[in-house]
Amino acid sequence: MYLRCPLCREPLQAGEKTASCSHGHSFDRAREGYFNLLPVQKKNSLDPGDDADMVAARHDFLEAGFYAPFRDTLSALIAPLQPGHLLDSGCGEGWYSTAFSALSKNTTAFDISKNALRRAARRSRDISWLVASSGDIPLGDACVDVATAIFSPVTAAESARVLKSGGSLLIAAPGEKHLWELREALYEEVRPHQAEKWQEELAPHFNFHSESRVQFRVDLPDNASLRQLLTMTPHYWRASREKRNAVEQLPSFSTQADFRILSFRKA
Ligand SMILES: C[S@@+](CC[C@H](N)C(=O)[O-])C[C@H]1O[C@@H](n2cnc3c(N)ncnc32)[C@H](O)[C@@H]1O
Ligand SMILES: [Zn+2]
Repeated sequence: MYLRCPLCREPLQAGEKTASCSHGHSFDRAREGYFNLLPVQKKNSLDPGDDADMVAARHDFLEAGFYAPFRDTLSALIAPLQPGHLLDSGCGEGWYSTAFSALSKNTTAFDISKNALRRAARRSRDISWLVASSGDIPLGDACVDVATAIFSPVTAAESARVLKSGGSLLIAAPGEKHLWELREALYEEVRPHQAEKWQEELAPHFNFHSESRVQFRVDLPDNASLRQLLTMTPHYWRASREKRNAVEQLPSFSTQADFRILSFRKA
């Protein structure tokens, strides 16, 4: 076990029902199997992260396999690294974590959203599922071989702290053309994705290793899958109500998927 107490940072021993440290801090395992290691005083809101509707939409969308080519490319990048311990940060409802766990002896996956963990933890008892924040990862130093962040926030110093020297960090982010036609339908003018600030933050801790690009078409055969995609993206809230309503009525949709996978090695 690599867990550390979010309150005092001493090692945390996880049992069937609780995880506890030598200072007597104790955390109950939720019915679904995850540990909530996000202390109340470190929450910025009552229910941080993705809400239940977003999580449910993403679950159904991913389970239908629309992003399978992207997941398989990630798996192909991870497999040769043969991780003893893989960490999936911002794991959402755990579709990717579950695939990655087949490539690793031990897998830990966390997300700040309790809604996400409720679903994720039901997927597998072999993964250590946690509610936690990427800004304060409840793991000891240098215990992770491969860390992934799929469309989720990265705190460079924290990711570097938990990774072993030479360990890999894989960050997946949208490419310029990601969901292009959907964005065209939702906005007057499609703006490029903003440059991610983590790229500068990473430089002191990581060496850039490689970038992979995965592009394919997503053909949504029905209105239900279109609504799932819309609900799981931030575009749902950013678009005007009028445009969103119009898209929500369409019987089917076809759009481009464009993913960037950036690979770094801990310096
Ligand atoms: C776009 S979703 C991606 C989820 C998953 N990786 C996937 O691709 O299906 C972003 C996730 O980051 C989570 N998140 C947001 N802020 C976070 C933080 N500070 N620490 C951990 N997770 C966070 C959200 O709750 C959400 O599940
Ligand atoms: Zn403690």
